[in-house]
Amino acid sequence: MDVSAPDGRTIDYGERGTVRIYADGEALARAAAGLLADTVGERTGHAFIALSGGSTPKRMGQLLAEAPFRDTVAWREIECFWGDERYVPEDSPESNSGEARRTFLEKVDAEPGRINPFPTAVSDINLAAEMYATQIRTVFGATDGVPRFDLVFLGMGDDGHTLSLFPGTAAIHETERLAVANHVPKLDATRLTLTAPVVNAARRVAFLVGGSGKAETLARVLDGPVDVDLLPSQIIRPTDGELLWLVDEAAAAQLARDSRDADGR
Ligand code: 6PG
Repeated sequence: MDVSAPDGRTIDYGERGTVRIYADGEALARAAAGLLADTVGERTGHAFIALSGGSTPKRMGQLLAEAPFRDTVAWREIECFWGDERYVPEDSPESNSGEARRTFLEKVDAEPGRINPFPTAVSDINLAAEMYATQIRTVFGATDGVPRFDLVFLGMGDDGHTLSLFPGTAAIHETERLAVANHVPKLDATRLTLTAPVVNAARRVAFLVGGSGKAETLARVLDGPVDVDLLPSQIIRPTDGELLWLVDEAAAAQLARDSRDADGR
């Protein structure tokens, strides 16, 4: 079986990215798993990958834990990070890194020393963010500048958030730090998150967006005016990398540039 990501139906959104549309959530998750496999296959050494939380990544993880991905991806070459995290222990069901470990990282040949979760056991969340930034620099061997991930997976909330950059919050405009603690009033919580400059320095960024509940927001993000405080997903614009939107038909339903005819062809 070919593990490569199929292209899906493609819409060119120029600087806002390339949209690839898949039939349903299952096909979308399979395409995401294929994109991870492709990205690792393209690298000669380590592949630096940031995972996201959310429902589609969970299905992607289940697929990665099975053949053919389990047996064909060069798992030991992956340096695995996360785009954001809740301030909970890894054994919490809410932990993005815990979820990924349980779903696939513990079931494939990943190198435990290359799994780099946010340090949520640290008692000060701001310190945890600083430590994560330091860890990123250490693993990349980069003391200054912005490290270049090979692939960053992102999700998009129905309020337009991505990572833990929620509408109207301070971290959207962070330009110096690689990772911060971001207070999110509507959640009454503070989350750990990578910042836009890190994601925008990546070689490849892939949003995974599924379901009809995301259709209106996706259309606003891709077709509407840019207002990053209102729709933080719009701040993601890789400066010298590829921006992909892997979406399902339900999420794509309101896109203005989709030229399907009335029969859906
Ligand atoms: C998280 C992510 C968050 C997520 C979106 C979309 O850990 O929750 O940080 O940004 O990707 O909320 O999540 P779904 O794909 O589950 O809708």
